[in-house]
Amino acid sequence: MPRDLKAVAKEDGLQGAPQLTKSPEAVEGQLRNMDEDRSTAMDATDEDDAVERYRAEAGSTSKRDELHPYTQSLSPKDVESCTRLEEEAFPPHERCTREKFQYRLKHCGELSLGIFTSHSENQIPTAEAAAPVYSGAPDRKAVLIGHIIATKTTNPTVTDKDMAVPSPDDSKPDPSIGHKEEGRTICIHSLAVLPEYQKRGLGTTLMKAFLQRTESHDIADRVALIAHEHLMPYYESFGFVSKGESECKFGGGGWYDMVKDLEPGDKPSQYGGAE
Ligand SMILES: CC(C)(COP(=O)(O)OP(=O)(O)OC[C@H]1O[C@@H](n2cnc3c(N)ncnc32)[C@H](O)[C@@H]1OP(=O)(O)O)[C@@H](O)C(=O)NCCC(=O)NCCS
Repeated sequence: MPRDLKAVAKEDGLQGAPQLTKSPEAVEGQLRNMDEDRSTAMDATDEDDAVERYRAEAGSTSKRDELHPYTQSLSPKDVESCTRLEEEAFPPHERCTREKFQYRLKHCGELSLGIFTSHSENQIPTAEAAAPVYSGAPDRKAVLIGHIIATKTTNPTVTDKDMAVPSPDDSKPDPSIGHKEEGRTICIHSLAVLPEYQKRGLGTTLMKAFLQRTESHDIADRVALIAHEHLMPYYESFGFVSKGESECKFGGGGWYDMVKDLEPGDKPSQYGGAE
């Protein structure tokens, strides 16, 4: 049976996050241990996924690997980091506001995914807002370096109403605005990597992790986003298909609708059992 994503998000403690160890020997050792574990516990986790991705991409992304990145669901505690990251990555008219992060991470944070590093030595713009990895080492922070922010909609593509959020003071919010729990289309509102960490494969790792976990937990039929023309080939590389010009006027318009249909859920997992 597909696992409920909220339960998965709960399981994703930072202490359980993948430790993408530095040397190839250490990684191989970790992979061997995980392979052994799978023979008794056939249950794919984000940790498994991240190490599998590491194995697939090893060798080509050493600059990324220096960061020991790991992916994890987002929650309201990440609002400040996400706001900061957005300020770094987007021009003002295309940014997701703090108010939108507050709404989205409160109502459906488990749909959104961050890519973090616990490297605390360098001056990462989001470091100030980062929370300690665990109380035993308060100087070791979980620093956000990229995020995918998502909600669900009942529409087949992203609309301006899906991108809007109800006013927090509104006692009778318009039900057509914002996240729809019953929707089967996941809307990606933002994919962003801190500028100084771009072009190291982090955006690709994040998007692949996002799609893999969305697909394996059977929470939607498709993923939709709006993109400017120059990024369409990038999204096509993940299987998104252009549906033509978008009606969205967000940020001044000029967007294309892109949609990726997901494989039906509840399929046998790659390890032989049903998840
Ligand atoms: C788009 C983005 C998330 C990619 O993250 P990343 O970690 O740099 O991506 P990867 O290293 O995995 O892949 C790099 C590829 O992204 C694509 N890409 C990134 N920026 C691009 C741009 N401005 N124009 C065209 N292609 C671009 C290219 O295909 C690039 O491959 P190349 O290096 O061979 O040219 C990142 O550039 C970013 O945060 N940009 C600013 C915010 C944004 O525009 N987000 C998307 C709209 S919501």
